[in-house]
Amino acid sequence: MKNVAIVYWSGTGNTEAMAQLVAEGVRGKGAHAELICASDFGPNRLDAFDAYAFGCPAMGDEELEDSEFLPMYDEVEPLLAGKPVALFGSYDWNDGEWMELWEDRAVSAGLELVDSVIAKDYPDDEATSECVRLGALLAA
Ligand SMILES: Cc1cc2nc3c(=O)[nH]c(=O)nc-3n(C[C@H](O)[C@H](O)[C@H](O)COP(=O)(O)O)c2cc1C
Repeated sequence: MKNVAIVYWSGTGNTEAMAQLVAEGVRGKGAHAELICASDFGPNRLDAFDAYAFGCPAMGDEELEDSEFLPMYDEVEPLLAGKPVALFGSYDWNDGEWMELWEDRAVSAGLELVDSVIAKDYPDDEATSECVRLGALLAA
């Protein structure tokens, strides 16, 4: 059975809700999903999984959260070259630029970017189905 890591940071719960929906999509395809807080993940946990979803809201000025998420992500990204990875996260006042920047760095690092999903604040119906679809893609 495929094992999918869903690693996320969420300050007010919006990205966490997305993570749970991604997990629903993975499980709907009969694969195993593990939800993991960013501070509990690192290079030593990579081998246990076949595919990865990373979730982080837009923070700073169109940046990834820099106390827990970014240090973890900086460490694991170089080790994920060639691996299937999906990105997701919530934002509010801008237009999703942080995700474009994140996708660019992931592709430059050689990750196999499956897809990404962004949600303005709490995931609405459209973002909900997109998150479930993302999980299903990772489980395929
Ligand atoms: C310190 C801080 C910085 C933020 N920076 C941005 C930003 O640059 N662009 C944006 O669109 N939203 C920004 N936001 C809004 C959050 O991305 C938004 O509230 C999101 O839904 C939070 O997700 P969460 O509930 O998973 O923490 C910021 C919020 C905070 C608290």
